[in-house]
Amino acid sequence: MIYKTIKVEASSCYEIIIGRDILSRIGEFIRPLLGNCRVALLTDSTVDEIYGERIIEYLSAAGYAVDKFVIPSGEASKCADNLLEFLNFMADCKLTRSDAVIAFGGGVVGDMAGLSAALYLRGVKYIQIPTTLLAAVDSSVGGKTAIDIPAGKNLVGAFYQPSLVCCDTALMDTLDASVFRDGCAEVIKYGVILDKELYANLRCVDFDRESVVARCVEIKRDVVQQDEFDNGVRGLLNFGHTFGHAIEKMSNFEVSHGAAVAKGMIIAARMAPLCGLCDVSQELGKLLGEFGFNLDCKYTADELYDAILSDKKRRGDNITVVLPRSIGECILVTLTVEELHDKLKQILL
Ligand code: NAD
Ligand code: GLY
Repeated sequence: MIYKTIKVEASSCYEIIIGRDILSRIGEFIRPLLGNCRVALLTDSTVDEIYGERIIEYLSAAGYAVDKFVIPSGEASKCADNLLEFLNFMADCKLTRSDAVIAFGGGVVGDMAGLSAALYLRGVKYIQIPTTLLAAVDSSVGGKTAIDIPAGKNLVGAFYQPSLVCCDTALMDTLDASVFRDGCAEVIKYGVILDKELYANLRCVDFDRESVVARCVEIKRDVVQQDEFDNGVRGLLNFGHTFGHAIEKMSNFEVSHGAAVAKGMIIAARMAPLCGLCDVSQELGKLLGEFGFNLDCKYTADELYDAILSDKKRRGDNITVVLPRSIGECILVTLTVEELHDKLKQILL
């Protein structure tokens, strides 16, 4: 069983272990970090049905007492009610400061488990075991934790780094094709923002999972180490997201995150030449098309602009967007909201 270890040196240091079929070794991986303790395992109903027995078996065999809490699968579960229920569950299970939380699922589970760990007893350790491609390459790394509230997605959260990320790429074998593709949008994002070699090696969904996940994680690690609290360069990770989030929101989340980010990346690529940068939209559109993304945007410039105005990344009358300078290099460009509106009108009807 070969695996790769990537070290993150942020406000706290931790390792990301990536390999195929490594879940059975979870006990061995966490023992040096957690010692003997109870663990509260947070997962969702889909992951629980497929892998629930297996993870409990591995943790129990390693001597861990496990208290499992299952939320329904889907974004709607990343809410305040479930957060509070999980915190009460941990208290009922009498978890102490020396106990820990394990997130076993996609980004929904990971974000909520991380926030719960940050809050419970003012902070207990937590481990991320991502089970989706998106969670493996993005949400499990870097310590952004959150829940959604009615006013918006991820509006309540904390920066709180995990103690370990253990990514078994075999878990992704059971993902729906569309969920896997959602993660591919983030993989392509990493190529466009910072790695033209990664980009050049992506042609379809059948890429070498372990090496691609590891490369994406290295890129995210490097960015997080420079700007853990998201005051500068970490903004590059939002390529396609400002427009994507607006599309997701307007569609009432019927357009999935990855599909919306793909559309958002194309809008950003088309905005670049309007800001004096190169036009990579044809090339990027071709790759996204090969991955099966539909790049049409059915919203008008006015509709998109209105949705973007409520983006949490807006500062006063300015908004910073991520635009490609070339494949493999993006920059942060700050526009006034009027400039943004004007450029959107040149791109969309
Ligand atoms: P998700 O957690 O909802 O998972 C998507 C679907 O896949 C769910 O239905 C889930 O039950 C199912 N699933 C998960 N693992 C599976 C497996 N191995 N086999 C079969 N089905 C499986 O969604 P996601 O795309 O993983 O994550 C999206 C969330 O991540 C959003 O809430 C987003 O805000 C958040 N996010 C956070 C960060 C961060 O830095 N913290 C970054 C990006 C996204
Ligand atoms: N997913 C964006 C970030 O972690 O900053």
